[in-house]
Amino acid sequence: METPSAAASCRRRRRRRHPLQPPSLLCLLLFALCPQPGLGLYTLNTVYGDTIILPCRIELPDGLMFGRWKYEIANRPSVFIAFRSATKTNVHYDDVSEYKDRLTLLANYTLSISNARIGDEKRFVCMLVTEDNVYEEPTIVKVFKQPSQPTIVNPATFLETEQLKLLGECISKEGYPEGNLTWYKNGMVLKPVEGAVVINEQTNVDEASGLYTVISSLEYMPTKEDKKSHFTCTMTYYGPTGRETIRSESVVFDVHYPTEKVKIQVISEGNTIKEGDNITLRCSGNGNPPPEEFLFYIPGELEPIRSSRIHILSDVRRNASGEYGCSLTDKSLADSTLVTVHYLDLSLIPSGTVTKQIGEALPVSCTVSSSRNATLFWLKDNTRMRSSPSFSNLHYKDAGNYICETTLQEVEGLKKRQTLTLIVEGRPQIKMSKKTSSDGTFKTISCHVEGYPKPAVQWTAAGIGSLINKAKETKYIDGKFSSKIIIAPEENVTLTCTAENQLERTITSLNVSAINIPESDEPDERNNDNRENVNDQAKLIVGIVVGLLLAALVAGVAYWLYMKKSKDVHGESEKEAAQNIQNLPRTASKHVDKDLGNLEENKKLEENNHKSEA
Ligand SMILES: *[C@@H]1O[C@H](CO)[C@@H](O)[C@H](O)[C@H]1NC(C)=O
Ligand SMILES: *[C@@H]1O[C@H](CO)[C@@H](O)[C@H](O)[C@H]1NC(C)=O
Ligand SMILES: *[C@@H]1O[C@H](CO)[C@@H](O)[C@H](O)[C@H]1NC(C)=O
Ligand SMILES: *[C@@H]1O[C@H](CO)[C@@H](O)[C@H](O)[C@H]1NC(C)=O
Ligand SMILES: *[C@@H]1O[C@H](CO)[C@@H](O)[C@H](O)[C@H]1NC(C)=O
Ligand SMILES: *[C@@H]1O[C@H](CO)[C@@H](O)[C@H](O)[C@H]1NC(C)=O
Ligand SMILES: *[C@@H]1O[C@H](CO)[C@@H](O)[C@H](O)[C@H]1NC(C)=O
Repeated sequence: METPSAAASCRRRRRRRHPLQPPSLLCLLLFALCPQPGLGLYTLNTVYGDTIILPCRIELPDGLMFGRWKYEIANRPSVFIAFRSATKTNVHYDDVSEYKDRLTLLANYTLSISNARIGDEKRFVCMLVTEDNVYEEPTIVKVFKQPSQPTIVNPATFLETEQLKLLGECISKEGYPEGNLTWYKNGMVLKPVEGAVVINEQTNVDEASGLYTVISSLEYMPTKEDKKSHFTCTMTYYGPTGRETIRSESVVFDVHYPTEKVKIQVISEGNTIKEGDNITLRCSGNGNPPPEEFLFYIPGELEPIRSSRIHILSDVRRNASGEYGCSLTDKSLADSTLVTVHYLDLSLIPSGTVTKQIGEALPVSCTVSSSRNATLFWLKDNTRMRSSPSFSNLHYKDAGNYICETTLQEVEGLKKRQTLTLIVEGRPQIKMSKKTSSDGTFKTISCHVEGYPKPAVQWTAAGIGSLINKAKETKYIDGKFSSKIIIAPEENVTLTCTAENQLERTITSLNVSAINIPESDEPDERNNDNRENVNDQAKLIVGIVVGLLLAALVAGVAYWLYMKKSKDVHGESEKEAAQNIQNLPRTASKHVDKDLGNLEENKKLEENNHKSEA
């Protein structure tokens, strides 16, 4: 910026009487007479390192002999640095080491100085000399050097509350003229505060270059909130065009503060804790950095356990219930919590597989012991029971798979069950009954059997023998079933029902009269008390049966012979004869099987037989 000075420069017009006098000497003399330049002179602002171009600023006078440039420093003699002859057009640079090889003096007397330095801040004077006059015009040179962007160096690794610590140093290098550093926190200027904000600024000048390096240290006592604060610093300096500011990058510091609160947490898989669970105790402090080590107080342990933030208890039992605590290692702060380990015990007596005899008593007890009120229920063969079972007199229907189950509603997954498999055994019991069909053509004989394991039933009939595969059985339910046979006996017959299981064999007999003899259908009330002693009776019956069979056989043979004869005599059809021959040997048994033809046929056959008898 060139601002022509308003004030008049030191100008002298003099007629030179002695043209041979060397100009330098003249000028020196003239200089002494010149009043010292005041302020407000023409000033040239230059950037450090640039070329300073100094126009002479005097209109070239007529009769110009030569021009010279010199500089002046207060209280020192001026120093000539360059000369140019107007007539001979030769240029001479004085031997001034500071300006060696840096000067160029143009034909219009503009002086350029390359590579501007701080030392160039001087008052330069252009002198034009004519034969009778000397013209002078000074120019003040100012040099500016922009300092480096300030940076925060030696930053503290962390700050601590209640502690005044060096936060860092802000440095801005090699500026000119000297600038100022200012610290900011979150964009606000940090002003010194006794004991909390201490700023020290220091400026160093580089001897060789004359540039300033400014360093400002900040000692700072933070609060907890400062952990998010951004710190910056700015450099304020004057440039050729006025005041400028450059800002540093911002820096955030970790602020350490002590723990003010300790917290214990119990972590488990579910909302509640039950036996067998693993529980994790986590202790934390709200300081920064958070405390790494704690003392854990575990129920049942006399001494606290020193541990990191986490303490694991695996497979806890009910005796782990209690108060758990943790504290800082210096015991200054602590916290505690109550832990309940839920449990559920179930005891079923008896349990497993139990075999009892029918009619026996079986007391059953299922008891629960738990940390809370537990609900208990029973299942029999997967069906919920209304009440708990207990038996004073066991029945076959009592047999089954019993489950006593209990749950703790509040405790997820806490459930126990025990099983009782009850087997009710009983020796076979038999009741026999008979029933005549409404039309009186056949009789249904039933053998009602009770017992467990399921007895096998066998029918025998005196005079007929074994009735294998003739019987029909009902379903075996609750230890009961019945076996039926249908017969139409020609004669009185004794039917025997034998029921046998692993425990015993029972035999019962029933007299069934011939089909043509009416008799009551009342079920035989007589129960069998003839168990082992039945054997003798059975032998007797067998004897009778064998006897009857033999009698029947004899009778059969007699009939056959008779029939054969009568056939021969009476000339009966061959067909009829064949039928009779077939029928004869089965006299007693032919009607036993209901499945043998229909009733009509049976009747016909009977008629035939009666005819034969007649
Ligand atoms: C002096 O001369 C130089 C080059 O010849 C030119 O660039 C400059 O403008 C001139 N200065 C004045 C003040 O005439
Ligand atoms: C530097 O600070 C001083 C004192 O506060 C002040 O006088 C001067 O003008 C400041 N310089 C700059 C470049 O702001
Ligand atoms: C408890 O932890 C052990 C290993 O530490 C693991 O084997 C077990 O399964 C865990 N128990 C539960 C209930 O998670
Ligand atoms: C808790 O009981 C278990 C056995 O159930 C035993 O091993 C353990 O030592 C007991 N712990 C405490 C603290 O009493
Ligand atoms: C548990 O049962 C007892 C007696 O039935 C009752 O007094 C008590 O309140 C129950 N407790 C809970 C937690 O239900
Ligand atoms: C069956 O009849 C025989 C004689 O035929 C007799 O001895 C026996 O006591 C009778 N049995 C029953 C159960 O009535
Ligand atoms: C057959 O039994 C009936 C009674 O049920 C009896 O009256 C009759 O005499 C008996 N007949 C024979 C041949 O034993």
